[in-house]
Amino acid sequence: LMTAAVLAATTMTALPALASCEEGEIVIKFSHVTNTDRHPKGIAASLLAERVNAEMDGVACMEVYPSSQLYNDDQVLEAMLQGDVQMAAPSLSKFEQFTRVFRIFDLPFMFTNIEAVDAFQASESGEAMKESMVRRGLRGLEFWHNGMKQMSANVPLVAPTDADGLKFRVQASDVLVAQMEAMGASPQPMAFSEVYGALQTGVVDGQENTWSNVYGQKFFEVQDGTTETNHGVLDYMVVTSEEWWQGLDAPVRDQLATILREVTETRNAESYAVNQAARAAIVEAGGTIRELTPEQRQVWVDVMRPVWDQFVGDVGQDNIDAAQAINE
Ligand code: LMR
Repeated sequence: LMTAAVLAATTMTALPALASCEEGEIVIKFSHVTNTDRHPKGIAASLLAERVNAEMDGVACMEVYPSSQLYNDDQVLEAMLQGDVQMAAPSLSKFEQFTRVFRIFDLPFMFTNIEAVDAFQASESGEAMKESMVRRGLRGLEFWHNGMKQMSANVPLVAPTDADGLKFRVQASDVLVAQMEAMGASPQPMAFSEVYGALQTGVVDGQENTWSNVYGQKFFEVQDGTTETNHGVLDYMVVTSEEWWQGLDAPVRDQLATILREVTETRNAESYAVNQAARAAIVEAGGTIRELTPEQRQVWVDVMRPVWDQFVGDVGQDNIDAAQAINE
């Protein structure tokens, strides 16, 4: 683990926001897996570090390790519990080992758009989700937005049946596995850092992700096209170790929490625009984007919507009802 950190620090000359910490400062390592530019999480993490390093100088410093340089999402939470990293913002699909409450966010067509996701998260049950893993040693601090997922493959995707028999990379989430199976595709759980290579070499045929990830990882270069399905949500939780968090002096913890809150509000408000800019950049780079008519999109809804029935027990009918009420 040390080797990876040292390697990342010494070989990546263009590492933004990697502050050199001074003697006596609390070192906060923030590990994530995406690119830094034109990405809602990348930009938010860099801004967070910039503010912590300016406003908490002499007390704390934050080092950001993007692009899976330090850990993959399947390693980072264990590393956090070991005290090797202090903050991360894995997608809500990646907490399966710790809680099932986030499964509601993976259910296809549960939320109409990111505003609905935001409103649900701000509700009492959304707020309570931040504490859902405390007994397992993790504290959720804030929800960070990415956006709506799109579907790409090495063949044109218009109807779900076009995906029949194809292998689709998914994040390690039972809901996403069920969603791909409902499409007649074969789901392949895989770390984010491996997806581009897997698409390029044909280990998998397709994947689902937001415009910012399709652009940031250049998936569009090794796919026939991306279909604008907006079928699901990719969102994050900024997490920390409960033990580390409670061990901070109260004024330090409060200042950190305040900065994080402000960065969250500022950047969440821009997440849609960041994804739309990434979408435009894909078109500009020659990538194919397929739009669906309402009738074509309804076919995807009809195929995927039954997946909800498999997970009502995990997410609760009351939460589903609350999410649907927010959509209207
Ligand atoms: C993925 O694995 O596809 C995403 O969770 C990556 C990310 O952090 O946006």
